[in-house]
Amino acid sequence: MLRRIKAEQLQVGMFVARLGGSWINHPFWRARFLLNSEDQVNQIRSAGVQEVWIDILKGRNLPAPEAPPPEIALPEPAVPASTLEAEFARARELLQSGKSVIGSMFADVRMGRALEVNGALLLVDSASKSLSRHSQALIALARLKARDDYSYLHSFAVCALMIALGRTLELPEEEVRELGLAGLIHDIGKLTLPEAVLHKAASRTPAEDEAIRRHPSAGYRILNEARLYSNIALDVCVHHHERVDGRGYPFGLVGRELSVHAKIAAICDTYDSLTSSRPGHQEWSPARAMEYMAVRVDTLFDRRVFKAFTRTVGIYPLGTVLRLRSNRLAVVCAQNAADPLRPRVMAFYSVTESAALAPEVIDLHESDDSVVAFENAADWGYTDEKLMAMYAPQA
Ligand SMILES: [Fe+2]
Ligand SMILES: [Fe+2]
Repeated sequence: MLRRIKAEQLQVGMFVARLGGSWINHPFWRARFLLNSEDQVNQIRSAGVQEVWIDILKGRNLPAPEAPPPEIALPEPAVPASTLEAEFARARELLQSGKSVIGSMFADVRMGRALEVNGALLLVDSASKSLSRHSQALIALARLKARDDYSYLHSFAVCALMIALGRTLELPEEEVRELGLAGLIHDIGKLTLPEAVLHKAASRTPAEDEAIRRHPSAGYRILNEARLYSNIALDVCVHHHERVDGRGYPFGLVGRELSVHAKIAAICDTYDSLTSSRPGHQEWSPARAMEYMAVRVDTLFDRRVFKAFTRTVGIYPLGTVLRLRSNRLAVVCAQNAADPLRPRVMAFYSVTESAALAPEVIDLHESDDSVVAFENAADWGYTDEKLMAMYAPQA
């Protein structure tokens, strides 16, 4: 017989049948056990578990009925906003530590050890906070990765994108947290493949392709062995290569059979793959990726979720190089939420004169100038880092 009590009412001798809240909040994978030490009681409380179901037939009951404490709703502490420059600096550090956390998590799995998600959860929370301080900085920076870092940083970039998109879709914050974790581990099944196959730049053999297409189900097995009971993580792991027209893999499910989480993952995963430099692929401009994906709405991607994605990263994401009608090149430095086709930009180069210009910020929403095309920074001799140093100078 189960009874629901508050975590502060727990006592040694009680039999825990179920912990309240999402599994994600606590490190107890096996949630049925007898409390036989004060340490265990404290562990549950310090993990932030609010409520516990105890089995009063298998263990001790509450000593006496108590008057319920008054419910007081405390507001979430607000995260102070940060400037783009300041957040770039913090996001840079976060990406560094993310790389090593993900690196050791992946190394463990490759060695056949069980997946350990506590470090991953800390990373999800840090990414989440960064995005609360500035909605674009971490996303823009996570896109810029060295080819060798792709496998680690792709996971982190997808995690950040999924958190941001989940928020645009106004999903509950608990669900967004699980989505972030799902993003971090969506490709975990790839760790069962030989590195030579994964990093192969030239075309793969049919057998190698076949092996790659098995990574979603391989991932599912890894999560199961780790006793990771997150429906969202399992769903995303298995279904992030499904496409709404049924031409994805492994099952060829169609849009109505896919969850919103799988649709979010498909979009974030594709966007990061297209815009990243990785073995066998030269990175695309973020605007080119958005255009490519926009014409594949209803075939590859879900319309409603993609629309929310354009509101999340912008039609011209931060750092995109645009050519203006005035024949100047400009880099996107902020979005105009009300007018996504006219972001705030910084003009830095005159195409007519083939010469750099003194940087000038232009709000296209209020200017006569307008976007005529997007460009590749590299074609004009500019790296992303160099552009960033102009539009976020302290970064
Ligand atoms: Fe994948
Ligand atoms: Fe991926």
